Amino acid sequence: VSIRQARVEDLLGMQNCNLHNLPENYQLKYYLYHILTWPQLSYVAEELKSNKIVGYVLAKMEEEGEPHGHITSLSVMRTYRRLGLAEKLMRQSQQAMAQVFGGLYVSLHVRKSNKAALSLYKDTLEFKVHEVEKKYYADGEDAYAMRKQLQDKP
Ligand code: ACO
Repeated sequence: VSIRQARVEDLLGMQNCNLHNLPENYQLKYYLYHILTWPQLSYVAEELKSNKIVGYVLAKMEEEGEPHGHITSLSVMRTYRRLGLAEKLMRQSQQAMAQVFGGLYVSLHVRKSNKAALSLYKDTLEFKVHEVEKKYYADGEDAYAMRKQLQDKP
């Protein structure tokens, strides 16, 4: 499996992976918007034998307030989990947020019940809970809005 920047040709593979792994789904044009606007921020994990996309991170910059990155979506196919792919995808994106776009921190939302993702964010990547957003998800579940500082203000 190799990690590389996402390209327009990867859109369907990324969407397919998202549909398998998360209830929050997006139109193709939303993936395209990310990749065309911030090409350095979205990455895929590609199984080299089959050229299948087995994981992705979709990310963007937010310009309101202090410049910061935002993780729109992250997922890894079930049989490819616990290999460190999500950690690698996240670290690549975070590095580009800071170095290419001057992002000061990175933000994301995660379901309160999502133990695997919470462990990845809190324990492995050192995100902190910024606040709880009540009923953030369509089914009424609360989200943790999490943040991680990337660099000090210039
Ligand atoms: N239980 C406990 N800790 C876990 C788990 C788990 N199931 N999965 C990952 N972790 C933690 C561990 O500390 C792990 O390190 P270790 O394996 O050395 O113990 C560390 O995170 C790194 O794990 P990775 O192997 O990099 O994570 P993986 O590639 O398996 O992907 C992910 C994790 C993305 C959460 C995966 O389980 C998944 O796709 N889940 C379904 C979709 C999802 O929940 N996506 C995130 C939604 S939030 C958002 O999109 C902003």
